[in-house]
Amino acid sequence: MSEVETLTGDELASKLKNNVVFNRRLGVKGDGLRLTPEEMAWWQDAKFGMFIHWGLYAIPADGEWYMHFSKMPAEQYAKYADEFKPSRFDARAWVRTAQSAGMKYMVLTARHHDGYALWDSPASYGNYCSTKTAAKRDFVAEYTQACHEAGMRAGLYYSPMDWRFPGYFKPDEFPENAQLMKKQCWGQIEELMRNYGQIDVLWYDGAWLAHKGTDADAAWLWEPVKLNAMARSHQPKVVISPRSGWEGDFGTDEGGHSAAGPIIDWPWEKCLNLNRPSWGFNHEQDLMTRDEVIVMLVNVVGRGGNVLLNVGPDREGEIPPAHVERLREVGAWMEQFGTSIYGTRAGPFQPAEKRYCSTKRGKSVFVHVLDGAAKLELPPLEPKVLACAALHGPALKHTQSETGLAIELPPGLDRSPLAVLELQLDRPA
Ligand code: GLC
Repeated sequence: MSEVETLTGDELASKLKNNVVFNRRLGVKGDGLRLTPEEMAWWQDAKFGMFIHWGLYAIPADGEWYMHFSKMPAEQYAKYADEFKPSRFDARAWVRTAQSAGMKYMVLTARHHDGYALWDSPASYGNYCSTKTAAKRDFVAEYTQACHEAGMRAGLYYSPMDWRFPGYFKPDEFPENAQLMKKQCWGQIEELMRNYGQIDVLWYDGAWLAHKGTDADAAWLWEPVKLNAMARSHQPKVVISPRSGWEGDFGTDEGGHSAAGPIIDWPWEKCLNLNRPSWGFNHEQDLMTRDEVIVMLVNVVGRGGNVLLNVGPDREGEIPPAHVERLREVGAWMEQFGTSIYGTRAGPFQPAEKRYCSTKRGKSVFVHVLDGAAKLELPPLEPKVLACAALHGPALKHTQSETGLAIELPPGLDRSPLAVLELQLDRPA
């Protein structure tokens, strides 16, 4: 079953809202707020990151929307905070797992829609945070420190919306309560941006109100342009997601559906789950295969995007061993073929659905061949192809003319799950 078929109601609406319409930027504009292409370069070079959804919802183990769809009253749900004492939480182990997958940045849910903050948060409404409840630890501090030690780019996810506030669901009826929620958001963003050293990504999610409309529709409440100017005053180079209501530095495309269509010429990121049933830890397990992850990655990168692949650690703080193992398998492929991914830009060829896509860097072009054809027919290319070979494989016969570039792919070529070719050109493509 596809993800869209299993999701219902507000959760489905949330996913659909976050499927970017790539030919336009949603969100309100903010003069001079967007990072420059130079400032975005590290992020576009990085290509592959780890998303981590972790919080109280790991206890019921039914996804991060559990509080909402089970209709559990906030006071009852808050009792999970008395139980949340993750005995195996080890931020360094998370970072090592991300590194073993070849991931270059990480994004942790500092606070999801349920309102529980994973750090020492004086601005938290009702002291609903990990240092003031049973856990008695600042997980964001441990996580950011582990990232910094390892040279891993550190990102934080933050949900402006908080289901504990009646003003979220009925801002007209409870305007003061909605203002309290806004105050919490501004205070918490300031804490996260000020107290944990360098933060590389600020990944907002959920600024819409009452699960309706868009994030930008609620800009009257959050004032996202001012909010992000404040964030930037502490972290001038932080890369910001488009879901605060401000247009952001990149677009997101949420969910496990494949990337399709032409190259998108502004920064974007596909976020999806390694374990399909939900972002937060789920007792149901249905992992993507190694090959599915790799094919997803080349399809996204060949269209100019990044992949942020999510794991949901369990209530003890551990990423399930089967997930760690799957990521290690992906990492083994990245170690061999990552040169065709990292630091590249999409093109020069437009992707051909289920057949190939391409990336380029300097005088090299990499082609990811997705089908089993014996001959690859590519559109014409202006620079001259000096050499053509399978990456870590044999040289390949090619013919270049004004009408196109044809490459012969002999039987026995490594195609598990796809063939990676490298073309050497006489000048950059
Ligand atoms: C969604 C969901 C959510 C998840 C996320 C990731 O909109 O509300 O639970 O955190 O986006 O992209």
